Amino acid sequence: MNRAVLRGCRIYAMLRAQKKHISFHTPGHKRAGMDITELAYSDNLLSPTGVLARTQEELARIVGAEASFLLTDGSTCGIFAMLYALREGGGRRIALPAYAHRSVFNACGVLGFEPVCMEQPRRRGIPAQPSESEMARALAGADALLLTSPDYYGFLPELAAARKLCDGAGKPLLLDGAHGSHLRGTPCYAGIYADLWVDGVHKSLPALTQGALVSAKGAWAARLEAGVQTFRTTSPSYPIMASVEYAVRLGRNARIEAAALRARRDLGALENDDWTKLAVPFGRCADEAEARLAKRGIYCEFNDGNYLMFYLSPATKLRELKKLVHAAARLPRGEIADAPAVAGMGGGKTVLLPPKSAVGRTCARDCGLFPPCMPLVRRGEAVTAAAAERLAAAHNTFGLTEGMLSVYEEA
Ligand SMILES: Cc1ncc(COP(=O)(O)O)c(C=O)c1O
Repeated sequence: MNRAVLRGCRIYAMLRAQKKHISFHTPGHKRAGMDITELAYSDNLLSPTGVLARTQEELARIVGAEASFLLTDGSTCGIFAMLYALREGGGRRIALPAYAHRSVFNACGVLGFEPVCMEQPRRRGIPAQPSESEMARALAGADALLLTSPDYYGFLPELAAARKLCDGAGKPLLLDGAHGSHLRGTPCYAGIYADLWVDGVHKSLPALTQGALVSAKGAWAARLEAGVQTFRTTSPSYPIMASVEYAVRLGRNARIEAAALRARRDLGALENDDWTKLAVPFGRCADEAEARLAKRGIYCEFNDGNYLMFYLSPATKLRELKKLVHAAARLPRGEIADAPAVAGMGGGKTVLLPPKSAVGRTCARDCGLFPPCMPLVRRGEAVTAAAAERLAAAHNTFGLTEGMLSVYEEA
């Protein structure tokens, strides 16, 4: 904890100043401490007028927004709120990356958006950000453009080009910055380009899990507020809100940023755009590398069968990064296996099959690894042998039912 930053945090100061009191209110654990509810002194996030209002105003100023809203239910809530705002503004079709996070597809489903998917060809086993021409093509048939910035592998979309396209078309740019809140203060921060954006503060800054911030510029602010009020919990966690405030106010950590770049070089990791994401190519040896590191108590964010993704933050300890480099540099590496999914046609009755039996069949429900929670096989695509193998081997997945894929029955 940086004490100087902490001293300037309003929510933390309010929680520290509280007198011991007897709780006949939620939460049910009844312990005194920071996990409180809306009380006479703690304001009310549903219609804030006190400490929470002041904090949100201050955070908006810091991130360069007209208005920012604290979220204690992750970037998922921010994405739903952004799409709600877009719909209030008359949007019905949205251009989005084919490998967007599942919350984006879920929000489209719930709010009745028609997604206009932008192709993301795979390069070295990783879906590339949509090209400028692909963005232009999709935006021509949509009311807004949404991009993931940065993506799960630390690559940025062409932000300046996206902004120019949106300005030219008079359409808003939405950025899913679930992995990008640490980029504030750099030229690639989402808030420099977007009309609406979410900062997944808990993922790359030292905030508690689920802490996030969603922000908007200009007239989008009022519509976003309506979205936030629709989807946000009515029981926000004060510790999470306090941690978001602290993390957003915290400056960059030049020492760990420099060490991360050295680690990237020493590990032969991908030359990506984001120092917090070390993408180390183990190829066919990825499972073995993951298991050997875990035995030494070193855990990665995810293993996609080619890369082990190590996520850092300004709170990463230098000695732990050194330990990772020392251990990972000695592990065997294999070829990167690139198996592009094959598009197929879908429809009709569905059946559940174990991954290996589903190979070649048309997938009826998006599914993939969790994290990163982007579809490995999308509805309508043929299930490849490589995808089936990954799904069968993964520790955590989404879109499967008791380990089985939903596929369309064969005609
Ligand atoms: C790109 C992206 N967007 C949105 C989300 C949802 O974020 P949260 O888990 O904070 O709700 C995630 C989570 O992994 C993500 O990777």
